Formats: sequence, structure tokens, C-alpha cells
Amino acid sequence: MGMSHYNSISGYLNHEINATSIIFFTDKQKLRIQLLTTGAFRITAIKKEDSFFDFSYAVIHQKFDVINVNESKESFRIKHQNTVLIIDKNPMRLSFFNENGILINADEKAFGIAWDGEEVTNYKQLNDGEIFLGLGEKAGNLNRRGSYYTNWNTDAFGYGVDSDPIYASIPFFIGINNQLPYGIFFNNSSKTNFNFGCSNNRFSFFQAEKGQLDYYFFHKTSIPEIIEDYTELTGRTELPPMWSLGYQQCRYSYYPDKEVLSVAQNFRDRNIPADVIYLDIHYMQNYKVFTWNNERFPNPELMLKKLKSLGFKVVLIVDPGVKVEAGYEVYDDGIKHDVFAKYPDGTNFSGEVWPGWCHFPDFTKPKTRDWFGKFYEKHLDEGVSGFWNDMNEPALWGQKFPNLVEFDYEGYATNFKLARNVYGLNMCRSTYEGNKKARPKNRPFVLTRSGFSGIQRYAAVWTGDNTASEEHLLLAARLVNSLGISGVANAGTDVGGFVGECSIELYARWIALGAFTPFFRGHTMINSRDTEPWAFGEEAEEISRNYINLRYRLLPYLYSAFYEASKTGLPINKTLAMYHFQQEEVFDTRFQNQFYFGKSILVCPALPNKEAIKVYLPEGKWYDLFNDNIFDGNSTFYHETPIDKIPIFVKESGIIVMQKLIQNTEEKAEKLEIHIYNGTSNNSFELYEDDGKSYEYENKHFNKRNISWNPILKTIEISEAEGSFESSYKSCKVYLHGFENLSHIENKNVQFKLNYRDYNFVDPISNFDPFEKREDKSKTVEKLPYFDINWEKNKMKFSII
Ligand code: GLC
Repeated sequence: MGMSHYNSISGYLNHEINATSIIFFTDKQKLRIQLLTTGAFRITAIKKEDSFFDFSYAVIHQKFDVINVNESKESFRIKHQNTVLIIDKNPMRLSFFNENGILINADEKAFGIAWDGEEVTNYKQLNDGEIFLGLGEKAGNLNRRGSYYTNWNTDAFGYGVDSDPIYASIPFFIGINNQLPYGIFFNNSSKTNFNFGCSNNRFSFFQAEKGQLDYYFFHKTSIPEIIEDYTELTGRTELPPMWSLGYQQCRYSYYPDKEVLSVAQNFRDRNIPADVIYLDIHYMQNYKVFTWNNERFPNPELMLKKLKSLGFKVVLIVDPGVKVEAGYEVYDDGIKHDVFAKYPDGTNFSGEVWPGWCHFPDFTKPKTRDWFGKFYEKHLDEGVSGFWNDMNEPALWGQKFPNLVEFDYEGYATNFKLARNVYGLNMCRSTYEGNKKARPKNRPFVLTRSGFSGIQRYAAVWTGDNTASEEHLLLAARLVNSLGISGVANAGTDVGGFVGECSIELYARWIALGAFTPFFRGHTMINSRDTEPWAFGEEAEEISRNYINLRYRLLPYLYSAFYEASKTGLPINKTLAMYHFQQEEVFDTRFQNQFYFGKSILVCPALPNKEAIKVYLPEGKWYDLFNDNIFDGNSTFYHETPIDKIPIFVKESGIIVMQKLIQNTEEKAEKLEIHIYNGTSNNSFELYEDDGKSYEYENKHFNKRNISWNPILKTIEISEAEGSFESSYKSCKVYLHGFENLSHIENKNVQFKLNYRDYNFVDPISNFDPFEKREDKSKTVEKLPYFDINWEKNKMKFSII
């Protein structure tokens, strides 16, 4: 009795060590420690009679270091890079310290790792002031302290701002204790629970319904480094096709073909840039995947061709359920190849979803992934560009997929309890790989609703059926930020809200926010009001155009941020907590939605119908993007928020790269702009270009240059272009923001010295307005110096005197 039913890991008996792991034995359990070359630890605990299980859908890359252990009477000590793990012997409890002996994270002394039947839990000591972040697509506040979450991918139509679970599961969180950040990735695909000091003040825990207690522990001095290590393990977002970074328009659903064409034409007629139109479930015949509805879309190829000539790409929704209907090709073929998930008695499971009764491909079986993946080729041949995998939790009417249904799980044979959370991940893998096989030279574009750790390798994630409400607008920012800190760099929300009626003001705010999310798509539900940028009257249309224009002008900056994401795993949208977790303002619910977009832009989402909102700026100087007013950071203040502006700031020494406005990404913007914001710190920006669609960058077919600002020497340097891709830009304007003594250039207070070649000083004074509304001069900088340069390959250096 007493505590015995917990079966907490007990006292040390003996151990076994080989080069890259050490296994400790107790009377009832085994505890294995491995060290990753990145500095992370892997901890796996199982019952004595079980064997270690080393397959994971999430983990793609791990290398183990040689392990050295020091034993004392009471404990073992393992030092690995900057972290020290102490393992108490009796009972076996783990504590992680930094090199200076400061505690980062420790097992709760009494409970540690404990089993209750199949369920396994790691209780961790909860410390004063400990902060928790991330865990992927989770509603709630930025600081997850005091909350409880479950991972069980769920079709959460119209979810609330505290609903849990929703669509995707990423069992990776970041904790901050004693100002030291750490990451824990709980490598278990069953239903998992996370308690961050909810309803108790003693412990936090992570818990799995089934499977091993298997986690990775990351400690670095900064959060970005932890994200880098986590994405080294689970993979990174590869460079997306450039067109997918443009504005995308969706609704449930555009049909028939004439309607689709007219939406596209409307964008062009109104000069609102856009790249993509989505076809939702009504394009299919009775919602059967890989079919077209012949009445609504009698000639899809022709429609796709016309859309192409208008500069539009098309993305099709593809759900997992395959309609049970003899004579339907996909169904017959699926039966023939035996690809569907089955009951233990060998019959195919059927559940109801849009098409009626369906079978569900077992995407955890390689053969099924290949099978499903092959169907995409036909759509690619027709001229479709990308695919949207929805309902892949998987969703069913009634929402109760029976747990006994069996799954292959890469040959390890299990049931739905372990397969559910990785179902969407594996569906997207099938889509991604199918697309890649059909068009090996093309970057696939896949959008998903559900996912698991590692989903970033295959798809962009959107946050499902949100609501047209003010609190959802703010939640949208937090969800994208939380996905970002959890390894998913490419994410977005339904701009305008999916459920409910969006107001004009709310739409204006959401489109402004959406322009600063990596995935930028407007979407709304069946029978709701129209939500295209022109559907809310002239003023909202103008606001939409302004922000979408700005988005297109910022594409070189955004694309370069994606390049960084592909190399380091760092997201595009970054919660301020990533860099300023010491500042309590960051977690204040008034400021928790703010984020960095790329490296130097700070965005403050704003509610509608508010003349001003309070904002928080971290230390340093900040420029108002719209008028160059300068603010001192480390402060909170009210900032005006007229309907057409949300507060957006640029960090001092910031380098922002823009291009001339284009209407879609097939157009070439030959003019580049580099904006340097005067400041006291050294800064650099890696500008990355390539063809935006292929994998030729793997053969160095890119164009990469470093733009740097040195405030002491007052020099701007642009490194020689690296790579074989010829830049799409021919000329460049360099704008100098906040160089007050340059404001009277004609008075000869300043000169530019060009070290490498001649240059002409063209029109020294211009008005810079990110929206390019030149008539609105009162709100723009009157004297913004700039100079023109030819955009040549060689190194350039400018000294500002
Ligand atoms: C789901 C999706 C939504 C889509 C609808 C119809 O609710 O989340 O985006 O429009 O299904 O396919």
C-alpha cells in the first residue's frame, strides 16, 4: 500500500556501460542514458521485462557521444558539454545542473519516474518562478505555468481560446528555471499529458498513456540554440516554394470554375497581389478524394491554365477518408493493395466523414504511403500546384476512432493508441514524398491541420477552425509563435476567422497580422459572409491592399528568414520570450502576443476599435516602421492604433530588405531596397535568393550575400555574392533611417565614400512609406536619405562620413 502502487523507479542495483550508453538496473526497471553530439541527453526508462524501443517518427538524426561516468557512493555524475547530470542511487533520481552547479531541472524527489499500469510519468520538481513555453499548437497563455495539456490530435471545430487538445501534438516544451533555459522533448506518440504546476505547487510532469518514458533534455544558454538542437533531432522546415509565401485565398468552397476565375480576376482588377486560390471539398465528386466534380469543374485543366495565365496557383484539399464505394477507382485500388487500417479481426475499419462511410489508409505503413502518394501525380499533371491535407487527426463524425484499430507503425504493429498522434504526420509524409517522386525537381507544397513533432519536414501547419473573434485574433499570434518555438517555422491561421462573421474592423486587424505570419491565407466557413479583401468595403480593401503590398515588398526579407529557418530551425515568428525571457513584461498578458517577424521587425497585434494599445519594447532603440519615430526600449507605452495601422517597430541597427511591388511571385521585382536603421550595435543580414522552386540550391545555385552595418566605422558592407544563381535584382536603393545629421545632404554635412567603384548620388531626399501612399506625406519621413547602387556581384563597401 502506501506509495507502492506508483511503482516509482527504485534503488540502483548495477549497471552496464558500453561506448555510447549506460543502462542502470533496479529491481523492477531499466534506465538508459545516452549523450547526443549536440549536447543533449536522451533518457529512457522502461520496466525490467520490456526492451528499449528505438524507432520514432519524430527523430531523424541523432549521433551519440562516448559516455564517461563518475561513480560515488551515493550517485553517478555524467558531464556532457555544458551540462552535468547527477543520478542519485537510492532511489534513482535525475538532476541536471549547469557547469556552475546551478540547478536546471530535477526529478521530484519522492515520485521521480513512476508507472501506474501502462501509464508512465516523470514528475519534476516545480521551482519558484519556473516558466514553461511552447508545446506546439496549444491554446492558452504564452507562459504555460499553471496549465495542463493533453496531446491527442483532435478535430476542434470552433475551439475556444483555452480549448485543449486541438489539432496537432508537439510534445516539446521549453522551461526556464533559475534563468536557465532547457528543452524537453517527450518522444512518445501515445496520448501524453503535461502538467506545468496545474492544481498543485509541488511538481510539473509529463506522462504517457502507453510506451516508454523516453525524453531528450536540452540545455543551452539561449532558447534559439535549444531550438537548433531540437530541430537537428527532428528536422527542419525546408525552403518552401516562393509562391507559397504570397497571399493565398481560400473559402469553403469556391465553385464552380467560373467563380474561381472571377475571384482570381478580381485580385488582378483591384491590384491586390495574390498567388494562390484554394479549392475546398466541393471540387470533388461526392467528396471522393482524387476526383473532380464534373458539373462544377467540367474542364479542370482549362481552368488551371487560365488561372496560371492570371498568375495564380491552385491548392487542392485532400482528406484521408476514402469513400467505400465499389467502382470508385481509389477505393477499389486500396482494397486491391490492402492499404487500410483494420480491426483486429482483419476487416477494414469504416468511419463516417464528408463522403459518408470511409476506410482510412494506414499511413504508418510504408506501402500505404507510397500507394496514396501516387495519386497526386494526376493532379500535378492537370496543373495543380499544392495540396492541403485536412481532417487528418483523423476526424470522424462522432470523433471517436476506436482504439483497437490496428496500425502497422513501420512494422512494429500497434493500435490506434500509438498511431493517432502520428497519423497526420504520416499522411503529410505520403503527400510530400508522392509529390517529390512525381516531380523530383520541384519543392512540394503541403498544408496540414494535424501533425506531430517532425511535421515541419513535410508541411506548413495552419491552426484549423478558429473563430472570427477578438480573442482569437490574439490567440492566432500566440499559436503561430508557439508552433515556431516548437520547431514549426511555417505556420498561419485562417485570416478573418473560420467560424462566425468577421467585422470590418476585425478583418482589417487580422489581415495586418496575417501579413506578418509565415503562412498567409484568408479562409472562411461555408455559408459565412464573403471574406475576400474587397468584401468589407473600400476602406478595408485599401487596408488589405496596403498590408498585402507590404508583404510582397518584404518577400526578400521573409525568404531570407526561411533560409535561416532551413539552416537553424529558427522560426519566422518569434515570441519575445525567445530572446528576453528575463523580462517579466514579455509574459504579461497585455504583451504576450507581440513577436519578432524575422530578425529586426517587432509586431504588436492590435484589437479592433481601439484608438491606442499599450505596447512593450525590449531594451534598445526602436523605430516606428511607418514614420521613423524613435522610441526608447525597456519601456511600455500607449501607441496609437488607427484602423489602418497596427504598431510595427524596427530594432535599431536593423537591416530590412524590400523589393519593388509585384502582383504575384512569378513577376520579377528588379529593384531591391536595403533599409539601414541607425543604431549602436553591429548587425548583419544574410540576403538569400534562389529560383524559388527547385532543389538546385543544393548545387550552390543560389545567391547569398551578407549585408552588414558597423556603427563605429559607419560602414555598410555588402559581401560578394556567393553561389551561381544570378540575382533577380538589377539595382538597389539604400535607405538610411535615423541618420539625423544626414537630413540635409544638400548642405554637404555628409558624403558617401565608395571604396570599390564609382557611384552616382541620385536624388538624396525621398519619402519612404512602407505603404507607398505618397499623398499621405504628413505621416511619412520627410527627409529620408538614400543612394542608388547597381546590384552587382562584387563586394561593396560604403563609408558614411
Ligand atoms: C474543416 C477544415 C476547414 C475546411 C472544412 C471543409 O473544417 O478545417 O478549413 O474548410 O473542413 O473542408
